[in-house]
Amino acid sequence: MNLTRRVAIAAALAAPLSFAQAQAQTTITVQHPLPLASHYGAGATAFKEALERATGGRYRVNIQRNDNEREAIESVQIGTIECSLTSTGPVGNFVPEVRNFDVPFLFRDYAHARGVLDGEIGQQMLARFTARGLVGVVWMENGFRHLTNSRREVNAPADIRGLKVRTMENQVHMRAFTQLGALPTPMAFSELVPALQQGTVDGQENPIAVILANNLNQVQRYLTLTGHVYSPAILICNPGLVNRMNAADRAAFNEAARAGAAANRAKNSADEAAGVEELRRRGMNVVTQVDSAAFQQALVPGAAQIEQQLDSALLRRIREWR
Ligand code: PAF
Repeated sequence: MNLTRRVAIAAALAAPLSFAQAQAQTTITVQHPLPLASHYGAGATAFKEALERATGGRYRVNIQRNDNEREAIESVQIGTIECSLTSTGPVGNFVPEVRNFDVPFLFRDYAHARGVLDGEIGQQMLARFTARGLVGVVWMENGFRHLTNSRREVNAPADIRGLKVRTMENQVHMRAFTQLGALPTPMAFSELVPALQQGTVDGQENPIAVILANNLNQVQRYLTLTGHVYSPAILICNPGLVNRMNAADRAAFNEAARAGAAANRAKNSADEAAGVEELRRRGMNVVTQVDSAAFQQALVPGAAQIEQQLDSALLRRIREWR
């Protein structure tokens, strides 16, 4: 067979193969609410790179920003996008049991939170998403939340009284801020900066990584490291996507999700380590010496009311986790 004929046959064989490959390609849109350079961006990017590499490009991940987390979860539920990386802020409105993870001062530190979420308790919670038409894929991390405001230095719980504080659309957080005497104003993150600029709210609360990535120092002067609640994040996907995968692809998908979680947490730890100094450099007044016990104490009168609508056995298991 001459060379020209061999090349022609090879090309003919190759053509249908690449057509089939193109047909088999699946694009997964993942929306998350923060800039690409944030800890969420790090998690989404690591997930994308790991999945695309492991599947030889048969799966492509398209990362988009959507800073309305509730809207993104709704889009996953109805299937207009495949996945969302979101804080648990609005998740309790879809999977009510998740609200147990949003209780203030529930997690002692990062080791406690990560250990619980990666262990049996966290995995059992992921399984609960199925009944709500969602797949809880992996726990990622937003971080411990701290209070910022434009009015005054907050050194003690009493300093919070009367402050209009934007909270997430989360009943547990709203009740806690009411208990502290603040005026909680729930809104999507997309509305936060205009609300701070226009004085609709005086303050907000978010982890250092979020304050840094969104330059909230430009609209907030005072930061107090209250660490009042650990804010988990989660990769949620549409069941249609996951159920269509064969076993090997599902394994690659889960492995990529775990790689995403590792990158997200590493970036959060790095932002926490360097972030306070950086925010001071950008002009924020930072209160680092916080009497955490005083804040916990101030929440006690309302805690029973908050917790009676939650799962007390689960909360005890989490508190006792070592
Ligand atoms: O404050 C919020 O709404 C969330 O913490 C954020 C910034 C969207 C990250 O999940």
